[in-house]
Amino acid sequence: MPPTKRVGSEAAMMPKVLGELTPARFLAEYWQKQPLLVRGAWPGLQDPLTPEELAGLACEEGVESRLVLERGGEKPWELRHGPFVDDDFLKLPDSHWTLLVQDVEKHASDLTALLEPFRFIPDWRIDDLMISYAPPAGSVGPHVDDYDVFLLQGQGRRRWQISHRPVESDNCLPDTELRILREFIPEQEWVLEPGDLLYLPPRVAHYGVALEPCLTYSVGFRAPSHRELVGGFLEFLLDGIDPEARYTDPDLSVQDHPGEIGPAALARVRSLMHEVISLDDETIAVWFGRYLSEPKPGFRAEPETNPYSENDLREHVRGGGSLERNPGSRFHYMVDPAGETVLFVDGQAFSLGPALAFVAPLLCRYRTLTPARLREALKQSDARQLLLDLLNEGLLVIYEEAD
Ligand code: SIN
Ligand code: CO
Repeated sequence: MPPTKRVGSEAAMMPKVLGELTPARFLAEYWQKQPLLVRGAWPGLQDPLTPEELAGLACEEGVESRLVLERGGEKPWELRHGPFVDDDFLKLPDSHWTLLVQDVEKHASDLTALLEPFRFIPDWRIDDLMISYAPPAGSVGPHVDDYDVFLLQGQGRRRWQISHRPVESDNCLPDTELRILREFIPEQEWVLEPGDLLYLPPRVAHYGVALEPCLTYSVGFRAPSHRELVGGFLEFLLDGIDPEARYTDPDLSVQDHPGEIGPAALARVRSLMHEVISLDDETIAVWFGRYLSEPKPGFRAEPETNPYSENDLREHVRGGGSLERNPGSRFHYMVDPAGETVLFVDGQAFSLGPALAFVAPLLCRYRTLTPARLREALKQSDARQLLLDLLNEGLLVIYEEAD
């Protein structure tokens, strides 16, 4: 597709998507607690892509897309997975379907501008920007999600109905991969116009139906399950264990009962567990940063085939060129329990000493690193080396100027 810059640059005036609410009040009163409707949250919002461009994206390999069709009859819902071909769209009816494309900002980096006003919530909590297009009566059915979502209305109007009633696990339609509620009794409803915003906490049932051809932008959040977190930590610990190391007992002594698991065996295993499962703050901190910055499947950066030299980097920036963050890469940082600043990019940890610490917030805040933003960093050889390493690993990118 490659979309052009139509959403505005990072420096453009940021819409106050929460209306009169401050981010602090929103977090205290609404976040993960209750829905919020903001009329005119993004005044004059210009759709950054057309429905045709969205469909074009859904035809690309490596882009996660779905079509949900409501057909009525015995099996009223049909789910199709992309990538699609032009013909799939030409054969669609005039109403009652939705096209949904996931992770759009990772494929078309200009669209990250749509996420910018929501960055009062930490970047690592944001999962993706999903864009849906629906002709009249298009919907994905009433359902609940496990995650918070901001639903920003683009072109067209959409009616949203919600219900706070707890949803029982058996309240879903049979014979469909879609988790559509069998029973949904709306408690509130609104018609969203272009630029309006609806925030929904997890598990609030919702049902959005297009009243006319409409685009909806969903800023979706990520909240790893406890199982995922603990599983991730255990995997990290496993990586540190020598695969050849094995249970040994050269001090085995004779025991009375062959069936007994004796105290000495138990003690050996207990001491192994204490040795390998380190729950110290430093280990947990480094694991957490690495875990959260792991790229989503399919978004692992490709190293540069022709590595840049320090001179190439200097010349590029001196000529007014910028460095862009690879749009699929995750950049986070933390000040670890020992007070050291650690930069995490796509699962890698870079410990930055005190002189280099300022580079982490810079790289994590800006997706485009202009010469002005890079000026201080380029004065230091360690920082230049870090930028060069990130560049050659494909985590930072130099885009050739289009003619
Ligand atoms: C849609 O955009 O149609 C669906 C979004 C959602 O319900 O989460
Ligand atoms: Co939903």
